[in-house]
Amino acid sequence: EKGGYDYFMLKEIAEQPKAVADTLLGRIDAGGSLTLDEVRIDDSELREIDKVVIVACGTAFHAGMIAKYAIEHWTRLPCEVELASEFRYRDPILGGQSLVIAISQSGETMDTLMALRHAREQGSRVLAICNTNGSTIPRESDAVLYTHAGPEVAVASTKAFLTQLVACYLVALYLGQVRGTKWGDEIRAVIRDLSGISAAVDRVLETMEPVRALARSLADKDTVLFLGRHVGYPVALEGALKLKELAYMHAEGFAAGELKHGPIALIEEDLPVVVLVPSPRGRSVLHDKIVSNIQEIRARGARTIVIAEEGDEAVAPYADHLVRIPATPTLLQPLVATVPLQVFACELATARGNEVDQPRNLAKSVTVE
Ligand code: F6R
Repeated sequence: EKGGYDYFMLKEIAEQPKAVADTLLGRIDAGGSLTLDEVRIDDSELREIDKVVIVACGTAFHAGMIAKYAIEHWTRLPCEVELASEFRYRDPILGGQSLVIAISQSGETMDTLMALRHAREQGSRVLAICNTNGSTIPRESDAVLYTHAGPEVAVASTKAFLTQLVACYLVALYLGQVRGTKWGDEIRAVIRDLSGISAAVDRVLETMEPVRALARSLADKDTVLFLGRHVGYPVALEGALKLKELAYMHAEGFAAGELKHGPIALIEEDLPVVVLVPSPRGRSVLHDKIVSNIQEIRARGARTIVIAEEGDEAVAPYADHLVRIPATPTLLQPLVATVPLQVFACELATARGNEVDQPRNLAKSVTVE
Protein backbone atom coordinates (compact mmCIF):
# COMPACT_ATOMS: atom_id res chain seq x y z
CA GLU A 1 0.00 0.00 0.00
CA LYS A 2 3.07 2.25 0.17
CA GLY A 3 3.19 1.90 -3.61
CA GLY A 4 6.85 0.82 -3.68
CA TYR A 5 8.06 3.56 -1.34
CA ASP A 6 9.75 2.81 1.98
CA TYR A 7 7.49 5.23 3.84
CA PHE A 8 4.07 6.72 3.41
CA MET A 9 5.68 10.11 3.72
CA LEU A 10 7.81 9.53 0.62
CA LYS A 11 4.77 8.34 -1.27
CA GLU A 12 2.76 11.35 -0.16
CA ILE A 13 5.54 13.78 -1.10
CA ALA A 14 5.63 12.18 -4.54
CA GLU A 15 1.85 12.45 -4.87
CA GLN A 16 1.90 16.22 -4.51
CA PRO A 17 1.67 17.16 -8.20
CA LYS A 18 -1.49 15.05 -8.48
CA ALA A 19 -2.90 16.33 -5.18
CA VAL A 20 -2.44 19.90 -6.35
CA ALA A 21 -3.97 19.20 -9.76
CA ASP A 22 -6.92 17.36 -8.20
CA THR A 23 -7.60 20.25 -5.85
CA LEU A 24 -7.75 22.66 -8.80
CA LEU A 25 -9.85 20.32 -10.92
CA GLY A 26 -13.26 21.67 -11.87
CA ARG A 27 -12.70 24.91 -10.04
CA ILE A 28 -11.32 26.96 -12.94
CA ASP A 29 -13.70 27.29 -15.87
CA ALA A 30 -12.81 27.43 -19.57
CA GLY A 31 -12.83 31.22 -19.49
CA GLY A 32 -10.18 31.29 -16.74
CA SER A 33 -12.57 32.32 -13.95
CA LEU A 34 -13.12 30.49 -10.71
CA THR A 35 -16.29 28.58 -9.98
CA LEU A 36 -16.51 27.64 -6.33
CA ASP A 37 -20.14 26.57 -6.13
CA GLU A 38 -19.32 24.38 -3.14
CA VAL A 39 -18.76 27.50 -1.12
CA ARG A 40 -22.47 27.86 -0.55
CA ILE A 41 -22.18 31.43 0.68
CA ASP A 42 -23.94 33.90 -1.62
CA ASP A 43 -21.73 36.23 -3.64
CA SER A 44 -23.79 39.11 -2.25
CA GLU A 45 -22.84 38.01 1.26
CA LEU A 46 -19.20 37.62 0.28
CA ARG A 47 -19.27 41.24 -0.91
CA GLU A 48 -20.41 42.36 2.55
CA ILE A 49 -17.59 40.67 4.46
CA ASP A 50 -15.43 43.15 6.30
CA LYS A 51 -12.73 40.87 7.62
CA VAL A 52 -11.36 37.37 7.32
CA VAL A 53 -10.14 35.38 10.31
CA ILE A 54 -8.26 32.13 9.80
CA VAL A 55 -7.93 29.54 12.55
CA ALA A 56 -5.86 26.37 12.41
CA CYS A 57 -3.12 24.38 14.14
CA GLY A 58 0.38 23.25 13.18
CA THR A 59 1.03 22.87 9.49
CA ALA A 60 -2.49 24.03 8.64
CA PHE A 61 -1.73 27.21 10.58
CA HIS A 62 1.28 27.81 8.33
CA ALA A 63 -1.02 27.49 5.30
CA GLY A 64 -3.23 30.09 6.97
CA MET A 65 -0.29 32.45 7.48
CA ILE A 66 0.45 32.28 3.76
CA ALA A 67 -3.23 32.77 2.94
CA LYS A 68 -3.18 36.04 4.84
CA TYR A 69 -0.68 37.56 2.38
CA ALA A 70 -2.80 36.42 -0.56
CA ILE A 71 -6.15 37.50 0.87
CA GLU A 72 -4.99 40.94 1.92
CA HIS A 73 -3.25 41.54 -1.39
CA TRP A 74 -5.96 40.34 -3.73
CA THR A 75 -9.04 41.39 -1.79
CA ARG A 76 -7.86 44.33 0.37
CA LEU A 77 -9.82 42.75 3.23
CA PRO A 78 -8.05 42.70 6.57
CA CYS A 79 -7.12 39.13 7.45
CA GLU A 80 -6.07 37.77 10.81
CA VAL A 81 -4.64 34.34 11.28
CA GLU A 82 -4.44 32.72 14.64
CA LEU A 83 -3.58 29.44 16.25
CA ALA A 84 -6.93 27.89 17.10
CA SER A 85 -5.71 27.06 20.60
CA GLU A 86 -5.00 30.75 21.28
CA PHE A 87 -8.02 32.15 19.50
CA ARG A 88 -10.55 30.31 21.59
CA TYR A 89 -9.14 31.38 24.93
CA ARG A 90 -9.08 35.08 24.27
CA ASP A 91 -12.09 37.17 23.45
CA PRO A 92 -11.87 37.58 19.68
CA ILE A 93 -13.88 40.37 18.08
CA LEU A 94 -16.12 38.80 15.48
CA GLY A 95 -19.44 39.62 13.98
CA GLY A 96 -21.91 38.84 11.24
CA GLN A 97 -19.62 40.30 8.60
CA SER A 98 -16.55 38.31 9.57
CA LEU A 99 -15.68 35.29 7.47
CA VAL A 100 -13.89 32.67 9.54
CA ILE A 101 -11.86 30.06 7.68
CA ALA A 102 -10.99 26.89 9.59
CA ILE A 103 -8.23 24.86 7.96
CA SER A 104 -7.83 21.21 8.94
CA GLN A 105 -6.58 18.13 7.15
CA SER A 106 -8.34 15.67 9.45
CA GLY A 107 -11.40 17.76 10.17
CA GLU A 108 -11.24 16.48 13.75
CA THR A 109 -8.71 18.75 15.48
CA MET A 110 -10.35 19.72 18.74
CA ASP A 111 -8.89 23.21 19.07
CA THR A 112 -9.92 24.15 15.54
CA LEU A 113 -13.39 22.72 16.09
CA MET A 114 -13.84 24.69 19.32
CA ALA A 115 -12.64 27.86 17.59
CA LEU A 116 -15.20 27.50 14.81
CA ARG A 117 -17.98 26.79 17.28
CA HIS A 118 -17.05 29.98 19.07
CA ALA A 119 -17.09 31.90 15.77
CA ARG A 120 -20.54 30.62 14.86
CA GLU A 121 -21.85 31.60 18.29
CA GLN A 122 -20.71 35.14 17.48
CA GLY A 123 -22.76 35.03 14.27
CA SER A 124 -19.83 34.69 11.85
CA ARG A 125 -19.90 32.58 8.73
CA VAL A 126 -17.47 29.68 8.82
CA LEU A 127 -15.83 28.17 5.77
CA ALA A 128 -13.89 24.95 6.33
CA ILE A 129 -10.92 23.94 4.20
CA CYS A 130 -10.67 20.24 4.87
CA ASN A 131 -9.29 17.01 3.42
CA THR A 132 -11.61 14.50 5.06
CA ASN A 133 -15.10 14.10 3.69
CA GLY A 134 -17.85 14.20 6.25
CA SER A 135 -15.57 14.89 9.21
CA THR A 136 -16.70 17.03 12.13
CA ILE A 137 -15.23 20.42 11.14
CA PRO A 138 -16.92 20.59 7.70
CA ARG A 139 -20.14 19.20 9.19
CA GLU A 140 -20.27 22.04 11.67
CA SER A 141 -19.29 24.77 9.18
CA ASP A 142 -21.53 26.86 6.92
CA ALA A 143 -19.58 25.78 3.87
CA VAL A 144 -16.61 23.64 2.93
CA LEU A 145 -13.98 23.65 0.25
CA TYR A 146 -12.46 20.18 0.16
CA THR A 147 -8.82 19.65 -0.61
CA HIS A 148 -8.39 16.59 -2.78
CA ALA A 149 -5.09 15.32 -1.44
CA GLY A 150 -6.44 11.81 -0.87
CA PRO A 151 -5.79 10.02 2.43
CA GLU A 152 -2.69 11.26 4.23
CA VAL A 153 -1.26 8.47 6.37
CA ALA A 154 2.15 9.75 7.49
CA VAL A 155 1.82 11.79 10.66
CA ALA A 156 3.82 14.67 9.20
CA SER A 157 1.65 16.61 6.80
CA THR A 158 2.98 17.11 3.26
CA LYS A 159 0.50 16.80 0.41
CA ALA A 160 -2.34 18.06 2.60
CA PHE A 161 -0.35 21.25 3.19
CA LEU A 162 0.16 21.92 -0.51
CA THR A 163 -3.52 21.39 -1.20
CA GLN A 164 -4.47 23.63 1.74
CA LEU A 165 -2.40 26.32 0.08
CA VAL A 166 -4.17 25.75 -3.23
CA ALA A 167 -7.57 25.97 -1.52
CA CYS A 168 -6.53 29.16 0.27
CA TYR A 169 -5.39 30.74 -3.00
CA LEU A 170 -8.68 29.74 -4.61
CA VAL A 171 -10.64 31.37 -1.80
CA ALA A 172 -8.48 34.51 -1.94
CA LEU A 173 -8.78 34.75 -5.72
CA TYR A 174 -12.49 34.03 -5.59
CA LEU A 175 -13.06 36.76 -3.02
CA GLY A 176 -11.06 39.10 -5.25
CA GLN A 177 -13.07 38.05 -8.29
CA VAL A 178 -16.44 38.46 -6.56
CA ARG A 179 -15.59 41.71 -4.86
CA GLY A 180 -13.78 43.17 -7.87
CA THR A 181 -10.46 44.72 -6.90
CA LYS A 182 -7.96 46.74 -8.85
CA TRP A 183 -5.92 43.56 -9.09
CA GLY A 184 -8.31 42.01 -11.63
CA ASP A 185 -5.59 41.50 -14.25
CA GLU A 186 -3.19 40.04 -11.74
CA ILE A 187 -5.90 37.70 -10.46
CA ARG A 188 -6.52 36.39 -13.97
CA ALA A 189 -2.78 35.91 -14.52
CA VAL A 190 -2.38 34.06 -11.22
CA ILE A 191 -5.29 31.75 -12.05
CA ARG A 192 -3.36 30.87 -15.21
CA ASP A 193 -0.16 30.35 -13.22
CA LEU A 194 -1.98 28.05 -10.81
CA SER A 195 -2.88 25.79 -13.73
CA GLY A 196 0.83 25.19 -14.33
CA ILE A 197 1.82 24.74 -10.71
CA SER A 198 1.40 20.97 -10.58
CA ALA A 199 4.03 20.59 -13.32
CA ALA A 200 6.32 22.95 -11.39
CA VAL A 201 6.02 20.78 -8.24
CA ASP A 202 6.84 17.78 -10.39
CA ARG A 203 10.00 19.50 -11.63
CA VAL A 204 11.10 20.18 -8.06
CA LEU A 205 10.64 16.51 -7.16
CA GLU A 206 12.89 15.47 -10.04
CA THR A 207 15.82 17.46 -8.72
CA MET A 208 15.87 16.39 -5.06
CA GLU A 209 18.89 14.06 -5.01
CA PRO A 210 21.37 16.79 -3.96
CA VAL A 211 18.98 17.82 -1.17
CA ARG A 212 18.93 14.24 0.11
CA ALA A 213 22.73 14.05 0.01
CA LEU A 214 22.96 17.35 1.86
CA ALA A 215 20.52 16.14 4.51
CA ARG A 216 22.54 12.98 5.10
CA SER A 217 25.69 15.05 5.53
CA LEU A 218 24.01 17.04 8.30
CA ALA A 219 22.78 14.06 10.33
CA ASP A 220 25.13 14.85 13.24
CA LYS A 221 24.10 18.48 13.61
CA ASP A 222 22.06 19.66 16.59
CA THR A 223 20.43 22.75 15.15
CA VAL A 224 19.15 24.02 11.81
CA LEU A 225 17.71 27.50 11.34
CA PHE A 226 15.29 28.62 8.63
CA LEU A 227 14.90 32.20 7.40
CA GLY A 228 12.35 33.78 5.13
CA ARG A 229 10.50 37.00 4.42
CA HIS A 230 6.91 37.63 3.30
CA VAL A 231 5.41 34.25 2.33
CA GLY A 232 8.88 32.75 2.81
CA TYR A 233 8.52 33.31 6.54
CA PRO A 234 5.68 30.79 7.06
CA VAL A 235 7.57 28.42 4.74
CA ALA A 236 10.57 28.76 7.09
CA LEU A 237 8.31 27.90 10.03
CA GLU A 238 6.98 24.88 8.17
CA GLY A 239 10.51 23.69 7.30
CA ALA A 240 11.47 23.97 10.97
CA LEU A 241 8.33 22.15 12.13
CA LYS A 242 9.02 19.25 9.72
CA LEU A 243 12.56 18.96 11.03
CA LYS A 244 11.48 18.98 14.68
CA GLU A 245 8.81 16.36 14.30
CA LEU A 246 10.75 14.05 11.98
CA ALA A 247 14.44 14.48 12.78
CA TYR A 248 13.97 15.46 16.46
CA MET A 249 16.41 18.30 15.90
CA HIS A 250 16.33 21.78 17.26
CA ALA A 251 14.97 23.80 14.38
CA GLU A 252 13.61 27.30 14.31
CA GLY A 253 12.13 29.48 11.65
CA PHE A 254 12.58 33.24 11.70
CA ALA A 255 11.40 36.23 9.75
CA ALA A 256 14.69 37.35 8.22
CA GLY A 257 14.00 40.95 9.19
CA GLU A 258 14.10 39.89 12.84
CA LEU A 259 17.68 38.60 12.63
CA LYS A 260 19.22 41.74 14.06
CA HIS A 261 16.67 41.79 16.87
CA GLY A 262 18.07 38.66 18.47
CA PRO A 263 18.42 35.48 16.42
CA ILE A 264 21.66 36.55 14.73
CA ALA A 265 23.36 35.87 18.07
CA LEU A 266 22.74 32.17 17.40
CA ILE A 267 24.85 32.16 14.24
CA GLU A 268 28.14 30.35 14.70
CA GLU A 269 30.71 28.59 12.57
CA ASP A 270 29.18 25.92 10.32
CA LEU A 271 25.61 26.30 11.62
CA PRO A 272 23.26 25.22 8.81
CA VAL A 273 20.84 27.99 7.89
CA VAL A 274 18.21 27.44 5.23
CA VAL A 275 17.18 30.66 3.49
CA LEU A 276 14.07 31.03 1.35
CA VAL A 277 14.67 33.58 -1.38
CA PRO A 278 11.70 35.37 -2.94
CA SER A 279 11.54 35.88 -6.67
CA PRO A 280 13.84 38.65 -7.94
CA ARG A 281 11.04 39.62 -10.32
CA GLY A 282 8.10 41.61 -9.04
CA ARG A 283 8.71 42.72 -5.46
CA SER A 284 12.46 42.93 -5.90
CA VAL A 285 12.97 44.89 -2.69
CA LEU A 286 12.21 41.71 -0.75
CA HIS A 287 14.83 39.89 -2.78
CA ASP A 288 17.51 42.51 -2.14
CA LYS A 289 16.86 42.37 1.59
CA ILE A 290 17.23 38.61 1.68
CA VAL A 291 20.48 38.75 -0.27
CA SER A 292 21.95 41.06 2.36
CA ASN A 293 20.63 38.79 5.14
CA ILE A 294 22.45 35.86 3.52
CA GLN A 295 25.65 37.91 3.37
CA GLU A 296 25.28 38.87 7.04
CA ILE A 297 24.91 35.34 8.32
CA ARG A 298 27.59 33.96 6.05
CA ALA A 299 30.03 36.59 7.26
CA ARG A 300 29.42 35.12 10.73
CA GLY A 301 30.25 31.60 9.62
CA ALA A 302 26.83 30.11 8.83
CA ARG A 303 26.62 27.33 6.28
CA THR A 304 24.02 28.77 3.92
CA ILE A 305 21.51 26.51 2.22
CA VAL A 306 19.77 28.78 -0.24
CA ILE A 307 16.44 27.96 -1.91
CA ALA A 308 16.15 30.27 -4.90
CA GLU A 309 14.41 30.59 -8.21
CA GLU A 310 16.02 29.26 -11.38
CA GLY A 311 18.00 32.05 -13.01
CA ASP A 312 18.47 34.03 -9.80
CA GLU A 313 22.22 34.58 -10.04
CA ALA A 314 22.51 37.27 -7.35
CA VAL A 315 22.40 34.70 -4.53
CA ALA A 316 24.89 32.24 -6.01
CA PRO A 317 28.10 33.79 -4.56
CA TYR A 318 26.74 33.52 -1.01
CA ALA A 319 25.24 30.03 -1.16
CA ASP A 320 27.20 27.10 0.22
CA HIS A 321 24.40 24.93 -1.14
CA LEU A 322 22.00 26.18 -3.77
CA VAL A 323 18.62 24.52 -4.31
CA ARG A 324 16.81 25.67 -7.43
CA ILE A 325 13.02 25.95 -7.69
CA PRO A 326 10.96 26.96 -10.73
CA ALA A 327 10.02 30.60 -11.15
CA THR A 328 6.54 31.39 -9.83
CA PRO A 329 4.78 34.60 -8.77
CA THR A 330 5.93 35.45 -5.22
CA LEU A 331 2.60 34.63 -3.59
CA LEU A 332 2.57 31.13 -5.12
CA GLN A 333 6.20 30.36 -4.32
CA PRO A 334 5.39 28.37 -1.13
CA LEU A 335 3.91 25.63 -3.34
CA VAL A 336 7.33 24.89 -4.80
CA ALA A 337 9.60 26.13 -1.98
CA THR A 338 8.15 23.82 0.70
CA VAL A 339 8.89 20.63 -1.23
CA PRO A 340 12.70 20.61 -0.75
CA LEU A 341 12.16 21.23 2.97
CA GLN A 342 9.90 18.19 3.23
CA VAL A 343 12.45 16.03 1.42
CA PHE A 344 15.24 17.45 3.60
CA ALA A 345 13.41 16.60 6.84
CA CYS A 346 12.39 13.15 5.67
CA GLU A 347 15.93 12.26 4.64
CA LEU A 348 17.41 13.60 7.87
CA ALA A 349 14.92 11.54 9.88
CA THR A 350 15.97 8.43 7.96
CA ALA A 351 19.65 9.20 8.37
CA ARG A 352 19.14 9.58 12.12
CA GLY A 353 17.32 6.25 12.31
CA ASN A 354 13.95 7.74 13.20
CA GLU A 355 10.56 6.31 12.43
CA VAL A 356 9.46 8.53 9.53
CA ASP A 357 5.75 7.81 9.38
CA GLN A 358 5.16 7.62 13.12
CA PRO A 359 7.34 10.18 14.91
CA ARG A 360 7.57 9.72 18.65
CA ASN A 361 4.91 11.36 20.85
CA LEU A 362 2.76 12.48 17.89
CA ALA A 363 -0.70 11.47 16.70
CA LYS A 364 -2.10 12.07 13.24
CA SER A 365 -5.16 13.81 14.52
CA VAL A 366 -5.27 15.70 17.79
CA THR A 367 -8.75 15.22 19.19
CA VAL A 368 -7.90 16.33 22.70
CA GLU A 369 -7.30 19.87 23.92
C1 F6R B 1 2.53 18.65 11.16
C2 F6R B 1 1.17 18.19 11.40
C3 F6R B 1 0.34 18.90 12.42
C4 F6R B 1 -1.07 19.17 11.87
C5 F6R B 1 -1.96 19.77 12.96
C6 F6R B 1 -3.33 20.14 12.44
O1 F6R B 1 3.15 17.92 10.16
O2 F6R B 1 0.73 17.29 10.76
O3 F6R B 1 0.95 20.08 12.82
O4 F6R B 1 -0.95 20.02 10.78
O5 F6R B 1 -2.08 18.87 14.02
O6 F6R B 1 -4.01 18.99 11.99
P1 F6R B 1 -5.29 19.11 11.10
O7 F6R B 1 -4.90 19.75 9.82
O8 F6R B 1 -5.76 17.70 10.91
O9 F6R B 1 -6.29 19.97 11.84
